[in-house]
Amino acid sequence: MTRIHRIAAIPGDGIGPEVVDAALIALDHLSRQTNAFRLEVDRFDWGSERYRREGALMPEDGARQLLPYDAILFGAVGAPDVPDHVTLWGLRLAICQGLDQYANVRPTRILPGISSPLEGIGPGDLDWVIVRENSEGEYAGQGGRSHRGRPHEIATETAIFTRTGVERIMRFAFTLARSRPRKRLTVVTKSNAQRYGLVLWDEIAAEVATEFPDVTWDKMLVDAMTVRMTLDPKSLDTIVATNLHADILSDLAAALAGSIGIAPTANLNPERRTPSMFEPIHGSAFDITGKGVANPVGTFWSAAMMLEHLGEDEAAARLMRAVEAVTADPAARTPDLGGTATTAQMTERLCAALDAKD
Ligand code: NAI
Ligand code: MG
Repeated sequence: MTRIHRIAAIPGDGIGPEVVDAALIALDHLSRQTNAFRLEVDRFDWGSERYRREGALMPEDGARQLLPYDAILFGAVGAPDVPDHVTLWGLRLAICQGLDQYANVRPTRILPGISSPLEGIGPGDLDWVIVRENSEGEYAGQGGRSHRGRPHEIATETAIFTRTGVERIMRFAFTLARSRPRKRLTVVTKSNAQRYGLVLWDEIAAEVATEFPDVTWDKMLVDAMTVRMTLDPKSLDTIVATNLHADILSDLAAALAGSIGIAPTANLNPERRTPSMFEPIHGSAFDITGKGVANPVGTFWSAAMMLEHLGEDEAAARLMRAVEAVTADPAARTPDLGGTATTAQMTERLCAALDAKD
């Protein structure tokens, strides 16, 4: 019997629709081929155009409208004429926080054929999963501004760390580290300078660690972590960090693995009380929008994570094997990877690679 999964597609802005369309073509190809599952996709026109038209990026009850779906495939949000904090909070963060997708999971590895800017580092030398706390911390949305435009104007941006929030992300990260062959976790912190929230973060890490005696763990200050990622990538495996720190570290990770166009993300509600959301980590990339050259690999990889989340492990593995066949082929690569292929050509190659696996 064919399994049916309901998907909400939110392509968003800029290259978002270009890469989401590419991923939907790949998913459709895969489902026709295997016949094991079918995706029922509903498309939402939420994003900056809707904001210009109606004053809001999504309806007020947008997060609630997503509840009936099994998963969400998201593109990107952001437009040159709308402030970034309006687009981010009006759509992506409204969904992540509205659906309590508290675990943001960002795998990074060097795919076949892709070269890292780090000398002598190839596939296998850099294989990380960054876990980002996705519900509170520096992006909790606490703060304010007064005396606007006056010389004594003030703005506050308060980071929030709760025992519940930190415990659940630590437990998630230790569990993920345990599931990987090296069973190794690095807890990123800045508890020398941030002496309340991040001291709590460290204390809870140590408490939760006692539940995972088989996981080797260590602690790194976030600034030193950038050095270790660059100079000793092999020493890292699973990484957990706060909302802001992991946001920054995962862009670095994507660059070290070859291109921001490759990296995927899952925004998970691990208890599955609400649908989880899958998206490339890149933004709407105004500079290449409409040129047809956006690299769809980050969205293909995100789609593979979505399939895995839906229990379609075999299809997810097939899709990843096809992604690797495509990145290994110089003729299939988009300009960010040093090639000349378009998004459409790369997608065609991917479908051909899926066929070749039969
Ligand atoms: P960006 O990720 O959109 O672009 C950074 C650079 O990487 C650009 O040169 C772009 O051409 C390149 N790039 C990104 N994705 C690519 C792909 N798939 N293929 C080839 N090249 C790619 O980040 P930027 O420029 O800082 O932000 C642009 C807009 O996107 C802003 O409005 C920002 O707020 C928004 N943004 C949204 C995100 C999201 O929706 N999750 C994440 C990051 C930024
Ligand atoms: Mg980011």
